Amino acid sequence: MTSPFQLYINGQFEDGAAQFDSINPATGQVWAKMPEARTNEVNRAVAAASKALQNEAWAGLTASQRGKLLYKLADLIEKAAPQLAQYETNDTGKIIRETSSQIAYVAEYYRYYAGIADKLEGSYLPIDKPDMQAWTIREPVGVIAAIVPWNSQLFLSAVKVGPALAAGCSIVLKASEEGPAPLLAFARLVHEAGFPAGVVNVITGFGPECGAVLSSHPDVAHVAFTGGPETAKHIVRNSAENLAKVSLELGGKSPFIVFADADLQSAVNAQVAAIFAATGQSCVAGSRLLVESTIKDEFVQRLVERVQTIKIGLPDDHATEFGPLCTLRQRQKIEQVVASSLQQGAQLLIGGKSLEREGYYYPPTILDCSDVPQADCVMTELFGPVLSVVRFTTEFDAIQKANNTPYGLAAGVFTNNFSRAQRMTKAVRSGIVWLNTYRAVSPLAPFGGHGLSGHGREGGADAVLDYTTTKTVWLRTSDEPIADPFVMR
Ligand code: NAI
Ligand code: MG
Repeated sequence: MTSPFQLYINGQFEDGAAQFDSINPATGQVWAKMPEARTNEVNRAVAAASKALQNEAWAGLTASQRGKLLYKLADLIEKAAPQLAQYETNDTGKIIRETSSQIAYVAEYYRYYAGIADKLEGSYLPIDKPDMQAWTIREPVGVIAAIVPWNSQLFLSAVKVGPALAAGCSIVLKASEEGPAPLLAFARLVHEAGFPAGVVNVITGFGPECGAVLSSHPDVAHVAFTGGPETAKHIVRNSAENLAKVSLELGGKSPFIVFADADLQSAVNAQVAAIFAATGQSCVAGSRLLVESTIKDEFVQRLVERVQTIKIGLPDDHATEFGPLCTLRQRQKIEQVVASSLQQGAQLLIGGKSLEREGYYYPPTILDCSDVPQADCVMTELFGPVLSVVRFTTEFDAIQKANNTPYGLAAGVFTNNFSRAQRMTKAVRSGIVWLNTYRAVSPLAPFGGHGLSGHGREGGADAVLDYTTTKTVWLRTSDEPIADPFVMR
């Protein structure tokens, strides 16, 4: 089978060491062949990126010129969004409704970082020595290895590629083997935008070879990783080889907290968005509903009624609201954890059984865990459409329960009490708090977590600084010869 998908190394498209099958999760069938990068391809991609960093075609550009290339890339992404969305939907099962709007918005991330490229300033230091001047300049940190998971790959790579290129770095971007189509197609846009050869390389392959060789490569300066916590441990171990700087955006078990004084209809819809949008396969999924005991029954009933109306269907149908999971393995994991949670005493309110149709469908599922708040489904990230409900009595109880997790990515708080919203914002341990809303993102807003959710922040202006390093320059202004070589200046 000839494939339109190729690796992009040193400005050239190539087939890779081998081909592997890519599955359409809506059918469970192979829909395309993907090129596999192995050690040789990874080494060549890193070599190309290292060379590009020294090459005047890139290193010699002004910051504004780098910004202009990023603006051009943004325009191309916007134009290609429908095609990229179709690829992502075919390859990952994510519904076309979401992929088409999300990818069009990805262009805004590139525009945001395009605008920041020429606003990275050094500083003049008012140094305490009369015969010296000193200043700092910001330089690109070096070759970036960006490794992303299968979901929202264009979005998750934009928050790495955008700031890295704005800062003047070069990059090797590894698409996930579970759905590399949209990123391999993105490489064509990079090429069309006119970035010099080797500045951006896009590869895909499997974790144990492609990912491991890339993240431990001696010429990589920074590994920007998004994925699961277990893979993150490999990344950190791999970085013992190159001592690269590592940033980690990992999973979550984010609480969605509803107080009795909240607008319940709004909270119901936000809870549906939090856990059932993207079939629950979202790092910020609000997978633990903490609800005040006085309204628990009413809230859960309204939620179940709303969930019954969700349109399950083929992901490439614009009417579909809920599609398949990305992989069979993922569905098996969810089945296991739901089974063990039911044994532990969780009560099934809706869903709970894989759908009998082709493809990897698992329905919207709600488990009441109020009497078993330590059940597996409450404690484990499922990366799927499973909501665990736990009731709370007081604000203190809500905080204790919200923070009873090794993760700390996001939290939602629904209340009409402004003071309480302020107190909760402070008390909840997470990198993002959404008050009376959920799942809102913007290029302007930093994104990231604590604990098993990782560290580092992506998005926002400061993210560019992560891709730079400072150089301190000293200038002696005196014409007198240096007198005493044994005294530190
Ligand atoms: P994963 O951790 O299995 O894979 C992520 C990437 O790491 C893939 O490209 C994979 O090939 C690579 N990889 C695997 N083993 C490796 C190794 N030994 N060395 C180097 N690279 C290796 O993640 P998956 O299953 O694709 O995605 C789901 C996870 O990603 C969930 O935990 C989810 O919460 C998290 N995620 C976090 C986000 C955030 O921004 N905080 C956003 C989206 C997903
Ligand atoms: Mg696939």
